Amino acid sequence: MAVLDILRYPDTRLHTVAKPVKQVDERVRTLVADMAQTMYAAPGIGLAATQVDVHEQVIVIDLSDARDHLQVFINPVIIAHSDERADGEEGCLSVPGIYDEVERFARITVRALNLDGQPFELEASGLLAVCIQHEMDHLKGKVFVQYLSRLKQSRIRGKMAKLDRQVA
Ligand code: NI
Repeated sequence: MAVLDILRYPDTRLHTVAKPVKQVDERVRTLVADMAQTMYAAPGIGLAATQVDVHEQVIVIDLSDARDHLQVFINPVIIAHSDERADGEEGCLSVPGIYDEVERFARITVRALNLDGQPFELEASGLLAVCIQHEMDHLKGKVFVQYLSRLKQSRIRGKMAKLDRQVA
């Protein structure tokens, strides 16, 4: 397993649209293991393959306190959602230190493949619903800050550029 580099906003590669996984094989299982290790090391609660510059539809999430409940979604599709929407504060490993409110569906039903390539459906609400929608946006090339005002986005790009200078 390996800890992978996470792309940072406004890296244009974050806007790549991910392709569906054709076959859930050892290559994909290795990618999932590396993504999980990368998410735990960060640490974060969710990661999309897009963020590690792999443009295939793979998401890992772990909302447990003990960090021992990995949830994997391959080729996820939202097949139903509530009319109700909810505002929640979001952050992102690709936009470190930035948190803001985003409106999402309050409840969703997602269909995806598991690590064995078998389809499953899951109903989610609360933080899990937020997290799945946030990570699925990554697969579509969308970062949560794109829901914010242009002024906020511009400020965030400035903060990220400052971070880059500190690292360099
Ligand atoms: Ni994110």
